[in-house]
Amino acid sequence: MKTAFDGKKVVLGVTGSIACYKAVDLCSKLVQAGAQVDVILTDAATKFITPLTFRSITHRPVVTDIFDAESELSVEHVALAERADVVVVAPATAHTIAKLALGLADDAITTTILATAAPVVVAPAMDAHMYDNPATLENIETLKRRGITVAGPAKGRLASGLWGWGRMVEPSDLLGHIAAALGRRGDLADKIIVISAGGTQEAIDPVRVITNRSSGKMGYAIAEAARDRGAHAVLVTAPTSLPDPPLVEVHHVESALEMRDAVAACCENADALIMAAAVADYRSANPAGQKMKKGKGDTLTISLIKNPDILAETQGTKVKVGFAAETEDLLANARQKLINKNVHLFVANDVTAPGAGFGVDTNKVTIIDRDGGVEDLPIMTKYEVAHRILDRVAKLLKS
Ligand code: PMT
Repeated sequence: MKTAFDGKKVVLGVTGSIACYKAVDLCSKLVQAGAQVDVILTDAATKFITPLTFRSITHRPVVTDIFDAESELSVEHVALAERADVVVVAPATAHTIAKLALGLADDAITTTILATAAPVVVAPAMDAHMYDNPATLENIETLKRRGITVAGPAKGRLASGLWGWGRMVEPSDLLGHIAAALGRRGDLADKIIVISAGGTQEAIDPVRVITNRSSGKMGYAIAEAARDRGAHAVLVTAPTSLPDPPLVEVHHVESALEMRDAVAACCENADALIMAAAVADYRSANPAGQKMKKGKGDTLTISLIKNPDILAETQGTKVKVGFAAETEDLLANARQKLINKNVHLFVANDVTAPGAGFGVDTNKVTIIDRDGGVEDLPIMTKYEVAHRILDRVAKLLKS
C-alpha cells in the first residue's frame, strides 16, 4: 500500500458554491494519491466550474445529467453508487444537504448517495447565516446520525465578506476525513492506539530548551495510518511544525515529564502504545526562573538529571512498541532496549542512513520482536512503515 487511496474508487459530487475551486484541488490530490475519481457536477456547479476541468484531471467522463445518453448513469442510474468505495460531496451546499437529509434523489449526486452502501463524506460550504439557520444545523445533525461523516465547515472569511462558520475545509484536511471513512471497518476498528511523536523540549530557562532533531513525521504517520485502519488514534506530541491530523485525538506537550503524564492518562483504556517520540533522556536539574545572562567565563555547565523512561514505566496496554534511533550497532542496541524496556516490538532505525531517521518523509527500519524475529524492511515512506508496524500490532492484538 502506498497511500490510503491507492486503487480506491472515489465518487466526488460537486455542488454550486464558490468553494468549487477547492474541489479541483481535492480531485487532483486524490488522483495523485492513486484514486480513480468519478466526478458528478450539479447544474449549479457548472455555473462555477466546467466539466472539462475535472475531465482533464481525472481522464474520465464527468456526469452532469443523469439522463445524458452518453453517461453510464442513463443506462444504470446507480452504477456509480455500486462501484464507489467512498462518496464525497465537496463542496456541499445547504440545499444539497437538505435534500440528503430528506432522502431526495432528484439529481445524480443525491441519487448516488441514496443508493450507495459506501461511506459518505460531506464537506459543507455556505454563507454563515445559512449555516447558522436551525434548518441547516438540524439537517447536518440528521446526516451525522445516519453515519455520514460531516467534515467542517471551518470558520473564517466567507465570499460574502461575512466572518463566521461556512468555509469548506481545506482539501488536505478533507483527505484525512476521506481516508478515515475508507478505513473505518479496518482491522483496528474499535481499538485505541496511543502514539507519541516529536522531540521533547527540556527548558534551561524561560527562552532556551534542550531538544533533538525529531520532526514528528514518523509518529504523525503512525497516527494517520492507525486512523485509516479504523482505530481511535491518540497522538501525544512534543512541539512540531506539523498540522494536527484530522480525526486524530491530539495532546500537545513539551517536556518528557509532560509527555509521561499525558501518555499515562491516554493509555488507561488503550490497546497499544507506540513510542516514536525522541524523548530527552535528561533534563536540566535547575531550570532558571529568568533568562540566564551571559557569564564572564568561556564555558557554562548545566547540571542534568535523568528523565523517567516513559516506555518502560507505562502499564496497561496489551501491546507496547518502541523505536530505537541508532548511529551504530543498530540491532544489538535495539535488542538490548527491547529487553530492558520489556516491550513486544522494537523498530530500529539507523538515523545516519540516507533517507532514514530525522526530518525526511521516508524511513528504513528493521522490526525486531521478543521471539528473536527480525524483519528488515526496504526504504519506504513513513506512512508505509507505519502500516508495516501496525500489521504487527494488529496481529499481536488478535493473538
Ligand atoms: O520525528 P522524525 O523526524 O520523523 O524522526 C523519527 C525518529 C528518528 C525520531 C523515530 O523514527 C525514532 O527513532 N524515534 C525514537 C527515538 C529515540 O528516542 O530513541 P531512543 O533509542 O533514545 O529511545 C528508545 C525508545 O524509548 C523510544 O521508543 C523512546 O520513545 C523511548 N523513551 C526514551 C527515553 C525516555 N526517557 N523515555 C522513553 O519512553
